[in-house]
Amino acid sequence: MGSITIKTAEDIEGMRVAGRLAAEVLDFIANHIKPGISTGELDKLCHDFMVDVQHSIPAPLNYCPPGYTPYPKSICTSVNEVVCHGIPGDKVLKTGDVINIDITVIKDGYHGDTSRMFFVGEPSILAKRLAEITYECMWLGISKIRPGSHLGDIGHVIQQHAEGAGFSVVREFCGHGIGKVFHEEPQVLHYGRPGTLAELVPGMIFTVEPMINAGRREIREMGDGWTIKTRDRSLSAQWEHTVLVTDTGFEVLTVSAGMPAPPAFIKEHHAGSIAAPA
Ligand code: MF3
Ligand code: CO
Ligand code: CO
Repeated sequence: MGSITIKTAEDIEGMRVAGRLAAEVLDFIANHIKPGISTGELDKLCHDFMVDVQHSIPAPLNYCPPGYTPYPKSICTSVNEVVCHGIPGDKVLKTGDVINIDITVIKDGYHGDTSRMFFVGEPSILAKRLAEITYECMWLGISKIRPGSHLGDIGHVIQQHAEGAGFSVVREFCGHGIGKVFHEEPQVLHYGRPGTLAELVPGMIFTVEPMINAGRREIREMGDGWTIKTRDRSLSAQWEHTVLVTDTGFEVLTVSAGMPAPPAFIKEHHAGSIAAPA
């Protein structure tokens, strides 16, 4: 087990840029999510925006952690019962689908990682509620971030909120430290007990990215070696931000003009930590 890196001022500035670029890819693709478009088309649009407009590198393309085959596309598109790592392809979106788009860019060596849920046409009441509760879970977790808090505090509030709503927390995937490396220490579990695990220190940067299922928490990996679905085929939702631990609390790094507003109960207390860049 390695240790959690503390970012320098230079690293933090690089991570602000990468984080903003990742969020801006989501702003860009939002307008294209409509019935009739395929996930492969969304991938191509995002790839070209990253490479040609931003001059950033899509981190997923050919990403190959130990035990995996190289990831073949530039973004992840996880539709309905897909929990995460959905590979873009021929799948055509239809009214009522819900899709998570997960973007990771590399800029000047630094990674920015963020995902959002999108509705294709009108969502079902369940899909809307699952996406909303999951969004609140992410923000509740983020709101715990300050020096002296523990990673277990983040997991605990997420688990409480998800299970309190009758949903379940995926255990096999978690948030992660991030910087010049895509996935580094620490692991940020989305369940747990207050006061447990690593204590937060200014300069740490990690993601909070809860995956919440409408049904049971168990998952199943598909034959492509990447796509993860709920085992019971229930809906799954996920949101993700990359966050810095500051001297007084947190700073969300994956901010953009088009990012959805935080829930009202977060905004009141933390407005200065989440402002979109001018
Ligand atoms: N962006 C995902 C995360 O939040 C990781 C995707 S890995 C890929 O950690 F290879 F599937 F893109
Ligand atoms: Co991530
Ligand atoms: Co991600």
